[in-house]
Amino acid sequence: MQHELKGERRMSQHSQHIRLVRTPVGVPTEADFAMGDSELADPAPGQVLVRVTALSLDPYLRSAMAGRHMSGTIQVGDVVRGEGLVKVLASAHPRMAVGQHWVALCGWRSHALLDDAVVQQARLVSDQIQPQTLALGGLGMPGLTAWAGFHRLAEVQARDTVLVSAATGPVGATFGQLARIAGCRVVGIAGGADKCAWVTGTAGFAACINHRSEDLRVAIQRECPKGVDVYFDNVGGDVLQAAVENLALKARVILCGLMAQYNGAPLPGPSPGWFIKARATVRGLVVYDHWDALPTMVAELSAHQRAGNMHFREDIAQGLASTPAAFERLMRGLNQGKALVVL
Ligand SMILES: NC(=O)c1ccc[n+]([C@@H]2O[C@H](COP(=O)([O-])OP(=O)(O)OC[C@H]3O[C@@H](n4cnc5c(N)ncnc54)[C@H](OP(=O)(O)O)[C@@H]3O)[C@@H](O)[C@H]2O)c1
Repeated sequence: MQHELKGERRMSQHSQHIRLVRTPVGVPTEADFAMGDSELADPAPGQVLVRVTALSLDPYLRSAMAGRHMSGTIQVGDVVRGEGLVKVLASAHPRMAVGQHWVALCGWRSHALLDDAVVQQARLVSDQIQPQTLALGGLGMPGLTAWAGFHRLAEVQARDTVLVSAATGPVGATFGQLARIAGCRVVGIAGGADKCAWVTGTAGFAACINHRSEDLRVAIQRECPKGVDVYFDNVGGDVLQAAVENLALKARVILCGLMAQYNGAPLPGPSPGWFIKARATVRGLVVYDHWDALPTMVAELSAHQRAGNMHFREDIAQGLASTPAAFERLMRGLNQGKALVVL
């Protein structure tokens, strides 16, 4: 049965988009992307026309540009894939109504015509999520990643010493705050004094190691004198190596991300001998296995947020044209919190 078109009939909607115009070498730069324009028709049956209000910039996109991510490859010439917060302008699909706000795979665009497959995967933004941009960060996919690592993999116990890298990002900051609320001593690793001040101030970690100015091994031993019971790794490379050299007996290591190698830098791998010596359990985390827990995660974390017990930091760029530069900042590690573009 065809769904009747609801919403404004506009015949065509002007849209801007950003394409990948060459495969990035190292850190992606603005020259790897180009803006373009198109006209979008009214939605055909099964389609929805949306305005994109915010774009989520996520490190996995860099892997997808290199053809190394499980979600598929972003080819040269493609409009860059990615999730955004969208508002429904016109709908010919029973699942979406005009005026609603959803998180959808809209790509780097100002407006998009979503097909049935994208509509089916989209997630309605719950009223519990304020501000709505958190549906892309601490109360969205990155927050779910942290929540799943915490509740389903890490087996965290009160008084554990928990070490978290990329501690200001939406994944690391959320995991660390959950561990702090559970009574752990939480130590962050972050790149810069300003980042560390947020980690120990707003996010309430016990300590934060600035990996740009401190010797990591000395600092981890200083802050985790009895060893690391749980290490949540967002980085890989030498940060992972330094952490696993300091594991406590029966430690748990969650391998979540590989920031140190997404841009293509060669890496010496961590030696498995350290895991064996510590009798550690190492578990890989893929957020796609945990979508069933999204409502539980939003209810739990937004309650902490409303109680002033959990904080989410956002690094917001303005306007579609600023997207490539904001993505470059993310991939250089210069973002201060969840990287977003508000359109
Ligand atoms: N397994 C999954 O299902 C899953 C799902 C979502 C995200 N992830 C992963 O989780 C990690 C964190 O994601 P996020 O969205 O919360 O990102 P994010 O923390 O906002 O941004 C990445 C951070 O990585 C840090 N970093 C450390 N070494 C770096 C290097 N060599 N180059 C660039 N940055 C470096 C930077 O912070 P500092 O300067 O503070 O170190 C940077 O700000 C990423 O690796 C991501 O791919 C995994």
